[in-house]
Amino acid sequence: MTTGGHRVFSGMRPSGRLHVGNYVGALQNWVAMQDEFECIYCAVDVHALTDMQGEDTREIRPNVREMVLDWLAAGIDPDRSLVFAQSQVPEVMVLHTLLSMVTPLGWLMRVPTFKDKVRQMQETEESVSYGLVGYPVLMTADIILYKADTVPVGEDQLPHLELAREIARRFNHLYGPTFPEPQARLTEVPLVVGLDGAHKMSKSLDNHIELAASPEETTARIATAFTDPERLRRSDPGRPWVCNVYSLHKLFNPGRLDEVYQGCTSAQLGCVEDKRLLADGVNENLAAFRERRSEFESRPGYVEDALREGARRAQAIARETLAEVQERLGLASVAL
Ligand code: TRP
Repeated sequence: MTTGGHRVFSGMRPSGRLHVGNYVGALQNWVAMQDEFECIYCAVDVHALTDMQGEDTREIRPNVREMVLDWLAAGIDPDRSLVFAQSQVPEVMVLHTLLSMVTPLGWLMRVPTFKDKVRQMQETEESVSYGLVGYPVLMTADIILYKADTVPVGEDQLPHLELAREIARRFNHLYGPTFPEPQARLTEVPLVVGLDGAHKMSKSLDNHIELAASPEETTARIATAFTDPERLRRSDPGRPWVCNVYSLHKLFNPGRLDEVYQGCTSAQLGCVEDKRLLADGVNENLAAFRERRSEFESRPGYVEDALREGARRAQAIARETLAEVQERLGLASVAL
């Protein structure tokens, strides 16, 4: 591992195969950070349990595998970085319990993401699980178990990071300096609009382009994309500045931007052909990724071995931190 003095931790919920929006946002940033810092990347499968239960949870295991395959294919290097699944280092759940003793309930109830989630799940603050309320405590445990000080996240996670700092500060104040206060490192994410042209690209809205899709699937999907709604006839000039297909050209066809812009605004390039050009750009850009992914997928045990080794190395750090925490808290030890 290389280290520029900082230790990076980040987590992603196992939602299965990732899409282009996850790639240009979080994942490429994770890959780049490996050159500068010691990085720990975690598939947070226990967090996935906060909003699913029953049979649905059987999706978690295959989803972890698919997501981690995407990570590795994107260039997350399991020899340089620590890559593991959260549940495989159960020490995090012990730290979660201990941190929960220094976290006022009011702090958790006030987190805006908690209120949003309750609404979104059509529940009440009384009916949701104890685990959902504690989501930010588990997230804090993830980070500080490894004494990570730098956390690459999107803006939506800032309230959680704020809480992580407060919990770490409170623990340090009560029991002596133990944890660094983790800082968010905001990921510069160009907003990737979905194929519906109306919302951020997301799997749940089914407006996404999967990284692992075949070139044919990608082309077929892009063919369904919405474009400038005011361009009704082929002969109407288009407005690339309002068009989501054009915004995807910026990411995947930087070499052809002028050509596309001129063609669209002069009505020489129709939307059908424009979308073919985009599909070609996406497919060219992802060709190397897709080749690596299918190679890793066909190597028996490749993902499993990476996760096992990651968990083993993560656990060694986790056990040290936990022993220190138990000592500071005055908990029992085998050497009473
Ligand atoms: N809450 C994060 C999300 O939904 C995922 C996450 C869990 C995380 N633990 C973390 C992110 C620790 C950064 C650090 O995206």
